[in-house]
Amino acid sequence: MIRHEGRVYRPPSEAESLILQATIGCSYNECSFCGMYRDKRFRVRKLEELCEEIDWAAEELGDVRKVFLADGDALVAKAAFLTTLLEKLRAAFPRLRRVSCYASPQSLAVRSVEEMASLRELGLTLYYLGIESGDDAVLARLSKGVDAAEMIRVGCKPAEAGVKLSTMILLGAGGRELSDAHARESARVVNAIAPRFVSTLVMTPVEQTPLWEQARNGAVDELAPIELARELRTFLAALELDGSVFRSNHASNYLALAGSLPRDRDRMVAALDAVLADPDHAAFRPEWSRGL
Ligand SMILES: C[S@@+](CC[C@H](N)C(=O)[O-])C[C@H]1O[C@@H](n2cnc3c(N)ncnc32)[C@H](O)[C@@H]1O
Ligand code: SF4
Repeated sequence: MIRHEGRVYRPPSEAESLILQATIGCSYNECSFCGMYRDKRFRVRKLEELCEEIDWAAEELGDVRKVFLADGDALVAKAAFLTTLLEKLRAAFPRLRRVSCYASPQSLAVRSVEEMASLRELGLTLYYLGIESGDDAVLARLSKGVDAAEMIRVGCKPAEAGVKLSTMILLGAGGRELSDAHARESARVVNAIAPRFVSTLVMTPVEQTPLWEQARNGAVDELAPIELARELRTFLAALELDGSVFRSNHASNYLALAGSLPRDRDRMVAALDAVLADPDHAAFRPEWSRGL
């Protein structure tokens, strides 16, 4: 059977996928807002264990089409390890359509474009990347470990290798003071990387993180839903993407928008303008139904 270790996180779009923990935890684990892997010591899992789980899934689940490799940055595992894992997956699931994983800026820096391309040929065709912000001051505040220029450099590698990218931006990450710069610079970086998918999440302080401590000490201001709507409006209006999909459907968002870019951009901006013009009647997601 599949032995999941600790809590397992996956993107909303991987709800139907078989989730395999190729790695445990996050090799970086220092982002100030992220508490997902604080209680896990990073390691790459043994191939034998993973092969046993794949054999079990082939027997019990049959026709698996999508696989997501957890935990936080499975792309950091050596290319030889990922190659063996992908070959095993292809042999076990003849109708496999795609394999995906999280890819941090650090893991994108260590994998070469050539490695990404050969892993793509074996089925690893989509990475999820937390850009979070395109503003240097905000990225530093988040301890993301890279500045905007480095984010662009590593964020362009997947496209060179023919791998699709799905990116996350953290609304509210700049607080009130940096909100406008955060929105504009994030759009600039997303435009430069031109990912296939762009989504937003709302930065939420969680226990056992530096952000939680900063929030308790009053060092970060949490934006109100209407301020987040303004930030999202600025971000969306500055996007110049051709052939990308935008979504704010993650449960942390107050407003769920979705559309193709550039086609639906103006419609989504107009929807946000309507919210900004009449906040009392806006259909913000209630706090009780929000989550990470
Ligand atoms: C499991 S992480 C993996 C991302 C990948 N390791 C990276 O750094 O690119 C997925 C995403 O969840 C989001 N996330 C994590 N903690 C969050 C928090 N406290 N509030 C809002 N979003 C959060 C961030 O956008 C993060 O990039
Ligand atoms: S956001 Fe990504 S890189 Fe940062 S600590 Fe979380 S999983 Fe690791």
